[in-house]
Amino acid sequence: MIDLGLSGKGVLVSGAGHIPERAGHGRMCSLKLAEAGARLACVDIDAGRARGIAQEIEAAGGEALAVVADMTDRRQAERAVDEAAAGLGSIDVCVDIIGGARWDRAEEFSQEDWDWTIQNNLSQVFYLFQAVGKQMVKQGTGGSMVALASVDGINAAAMHAPYGAAKAGVISLAKTFAQELGRHGIRVNAVAPGNVGTGNEDWPDNQWAVNSVNPLAPPRSRDIANAVLFLSSSMAERVTGQTLIVDGGAVIRDLWGMHEEVVARFRGGDYD
Ligand SMILES: NC(=O)c1ccc[n+]([C@@H]2O[C@H](COP(=O)([O-])OP(=O)(O)OC[C@H]3O[C@@H](n4cnc5c(N)ncnc54)[C@H](O)[C@@H]3O)[C@@H](O)[C@H]2O)c1
Repeated sequence: MIDLGLSGKGVLVSGAGHIPERAGHGRMCSLKLAEAGARLACVDIDAGRARGIAQEIEAAGGEALAVVADMTDRRQAERAVDEAAAGLGSIDVCVDIIGGARWDRAEEFSQEDWDWTIQNNLSQVFYLFQAVGKQMVKQGTGGSMVALASVDGINAAAMHAPYGAAKAGVISLAKTFAQELGRHGIRVNAVAPGNVGTGNEDWPDNQWAVNSVNPLAPPRSRDIANAVLFLSSSMAERVTGQTLIVDGGAVIRDLWGMHEEVVARFRGGDYD
């Protein structure tokens, strides 16, 4: 049996609840971390959702407490980290789920939509990494922090420019916090999901290469949670500052639309 090193560890998940029509990354990450033996602080802005995931973990035999806070507010984020540390005894792993996009043409975006997007996708990660970073440094036993970025922070983010810029910022924060906190044994990484939409659970497991975006089938929330679990675990103890893309291969598609007919035309020739 492979030991993930998570048994008995204190884990804070920020945005742990589940809104049914959304992907459910917070819930799926929380369930997997609890299944690996971690004790969880489930932080959410909505008390019912925070309690809901904590109860689901306990019903499955795990240990969890609910913390209610708006994590886009620096003071509330700091208070949530204090509550989680007091309740769990230590924060050894921290996972940030929160984020969302607003849509418009790049030249039309309002100030309000820009500010909301940066606050919800980037500033709150900064507040959380700062507060948890201080806590982990104080504990002196290292740790792991993971935030959800997006493939939109790597490629263009057409019609949601602020979201792409904010997620690129998350990828940058993971690198910088990783460099600065590495000497305390603290690792910091990100996971960049492709389009999980509302879960993609209706795709058959063996449905490959059937759309123009994903060479594999598109990712599901369980695929994102597996990446979060890996980066949180001792399996990744020499991995830091990285962004693990989980997108069914979407961002590696070639730019030239190569297919069998094109290859047949060029085969044997000497073309660039
Ligand atoms: N679904 C996709 O296709 C996709 C693709 C790429 C990246 N992502 C990223 O996944 C994350 C969202 O995942 P989801 O849709 O499963 O989550 P979600 O939006 O359903 O939110 C999860 C929980 O976070 C809570 N929350 C929201 N704002 C909060 C706040 N200010 N303070 C505390 N809690 C708050 C919500 O109440 C909810 O229970 C985002 O970071 C998003 O950018 C999603």
